[in-house]
Amino acid sequence: MAPRLLLAIESSCDETAAAVIDADLAVRSSVIASQTAIHERYGGVVPEMASRAHVQRIIPVIQAALEQAGVSLSDMSAIAVVTQPGLVGSLLVGLTAAKTLALVLDKPLIAVNHIEAHLYACRMHAARDVFPAVGLVVSGGHSNLYDCPSATGFELLGSTIDDAAGEAFDKVAAMLGLSYPGGPSIQQAALRGSAKAFRFPRTFIHEHDRLEFSFSGLKTSVLYQIAGTPPQAYDPALLDPQYVADVAASFQEAVVDVLVGKCRDALRRCRRRTLLVGGGVAANSRFRERLLELATTEKVEVVVPPLSLCTDNAAMAAIAWELLAQGQVADLALDVTAGLVRRRSG
Ligand code: KG4
Ligand code: ZN
Repeated sequence: MAPRLLLAIESSCDETAAAVIDADLAVRSSVIASQTAIHERYGGVVPEMASRAHVQRIIPVIQAALEQAGVSLSDMSAIAVVTQPGLVGSLLVGLTAAKTLALVLDKPLIAVNHIEAHLYACRMHAARDVFPAVGLVVSGGHSNLYDCPSATGFELLGSTIDDAAGEAFDKVAAMLGLSYPGGPSIQQAALRGSAKAFRFPRTFIHEHDRLEFSFSGLKTSVLYQIAGTPPQAYDPALLDPQYVADVAASFQEAVVDVLVGKCRDALRRCRRRTLLVGGGVAANSRFRERLLELATTEKVEVVVPPLSLCTDNAAMAAIAWELLAQGQVADLALDVTAGLVRRRSG
């Protein structure tokens, strides 16, 4: 019997992605067209330009995913598409492509939540059931902690009250004159710096009942360190490289301390023995190191996917297989949602 295959489409932000995944979660292909080169000169994603780039790329990306998997559209059993959260114009491009394919091929259409897909990437990486678990998604737009009783049950424990962790990396990188996206360049600069050079704030770290994040105080504190209080105009290109490395390392350590601390608080509160971590910031090597330490000290299992499954991709939308098994098929009136809509646990 021919394997059952899923075509998954992701266009929620600045990556146009498509993947072919079989029902055993083997990734047959995963194609990602990054728009970093388009947005880097602006220091962030420009929504209008992102939508336009998705329109240009979506069909070639889907074609490449099918070609690399050595399959054709008629081999697909279902079409999955990320419909939330994200940039509305960007999401609509993926949704329109997915609806068209589902209609023409007469295959089920499955709506996927991008944040839940980031956590499902852990399930794919582990290649076995990892639920129940606590889940942390740390990306450019979100810093969310979840209790995950099952593969499709996500109960939000808390999120950020201001900036997301990835956003803080991107903004501090800009202050230091480092390139966009900020996470990888801060990580790189931090290698040459001292994490103890500056003591930056770690908001809520001692409030163990509070499963929330706040990174705007940290960001302001970094700005005051660089530009003085009140901040004076400065040219980031003229900052001393060793100073940049020290600020980067000290900032990174503050973010990692908070993220690891809140994971520990959530694991204890929910009495879970497994921690799943996803999203672009989970690619951070210092964070990954500290998560390994947490696994030892708390005697829990920590699952962090490889880098290719941490940053945005379509393969993680394989959560659609779980949703399909539960009969969660969308109709063609399906729409996108910019913000996060909480699904009841299943
Ligand atoms: O999940 P993602 O690829 O896209 C969103 O859904 O937002 O996350 C992108 C974010 C960016 O803010 C980027 O700076 C951050 O992830 N990031 C990192 C690293 N790689 C990407 N942050 C810290 N360290 C990294 N190595
Ligand atoms: Zn993401």
